Amino acid sequence: MKKPPRIAVLKERAPGEARVGATPETVKKLIGLGASVCVEAGAGSSAFIADGDFAAAGASMGSLAETVRDADIVLGIQGPEPELLAGAAKGAWIAAVLDPFNRRELIDAYAKAGFEVLALEFMPRITRAQSMDVLSSQSNLAGYKAVLACADAYGRAFPMMMTAAGTITAARVFVMGVGVAGLQAIATARRLGAQVSATDVRSATQEQIQSLGAKPIFVDAIAGIEGEGAGGYATEMSEEYQKAQAELVSSHIARQDIVITTALIPGRAAPRLVTDEQIASMKPGSVIFDLAVPQGGNVEGSIADEMVERHGVRIIGYSNTPARMPADASALFARNILNFLTAFWDKEAGHPVLDAEIGDAIRLTRDGKVVNERLLEG
Ligand code: NAI
Repeated sequence: MKKPPRIAVLKERAPGEARVGATPETVKKLIGLGASVCVEAGAGSSAFIADGDFAAAGASMGSLAETVRDADIVLGIQGPEPELLAGAAKGAWIAAVLDPFNRRELIDAYAKAGFEVLALEFMPRITRAQSMDVLSSQSNLAGYKAVLACADAYGRAFPMMMTAAGTITAARVFVMGVGVAGLQAIATARRLGAQVSATDVRSATQEQIQSLGAKPIFVDAIAGIEGEGAGGYATEMSEEYQKAQAELVSSHIARQDIVITTALIPGRAAPRLVTDEQIASMKPGSVIFDLAVPQGGNVEGSIADEMVERHGVRIIGYSNTPARMPADASALFARNILNFLTAFWDKEAGHPVLDAEIGDAIRLTRDGKVVNERLLEG
């Protein structure tokens, strides 16, 4: 990598993607580190950032070809197609969310083109990497937005209201999967006055659910269930557990007005948590939001970017929920990237140098080959 490195920020091209990988604030700080930054014209417009604001922060603005030319580091939200990167420096870093398990051909193409690709979603869940974790920053916003989407589609109010015309009862909200998105969904639904309950396979979440004022709904009849695997993530549960969970959840779901599902297992399809039969047991007018739609969905019949109605229940599934709040989502994503580059900036070398713990975890390709263990294994 050259000193000082040239950082390129491209306009996202994926349908529905409104975020951008840098903001004027992070551009200024990247320049402060010694980098030069080029931003593609219009890159920030869908996130309400004008070209002039990037320029005022010190970025040079240009066409795609001008932005990419001689770039040492390309920042993106989703990985740009390799053919867009013609003219970038040999071995340039591409840092973005790359969905490598589902887009293996893209990763192979990056390798073939000689790029060093860094999958930001593979950031290890360790304390020092928390501020670099794009999954957390984006899931948090997604959990918030899911509740608002449900409230909007629900034909009733969330809070209890005692009025002269009569009393409105509080909505019952059930959150399935209490990771970062689920916790924010619980907090947001509580703030709106709903009566909230939640479930997860990781027993450690029971306390977190209670501390937010919600009720934990847990399978506890089966001994030895922890549900927590490597890196604080969920593992796939036994058949016995899944059956017990389905029974418990069935009787609970029938009494809910809103169900928000967020359950994911890294590298696998999302677990199926809500069946058509369970949907049919809910009251007409109830709303389900399936945040796991991009990974195959937790809810039977949910369709990406559509609101479908089954048995009088509305089922919403956005394929890219964070992109529906592009300003805040970009600001947090860009800060995650800035924190990452800053933490590894080697003053003597004049550019970032990764260490083994984080470098090996997120690096997918190098010197023309796929090098990531998780990808090579799976
Ligand atoms: P995730 O997005 O992978 O999954 C969401 C939730 O679904 C998880 O809580 C998971 O246990 C749950 N789940 C999976 N299968 C399920 C099933 N069959 N039924 C019900 N729930 C199911 O998880 P996320 O949000 O990425 O967080 C996982 C953990 O990692 C959390 O404890 C979080 O606090 C921790 N974390 C640590 C970080 C760090 O130290 N740098 C950064 C971010 C998160």
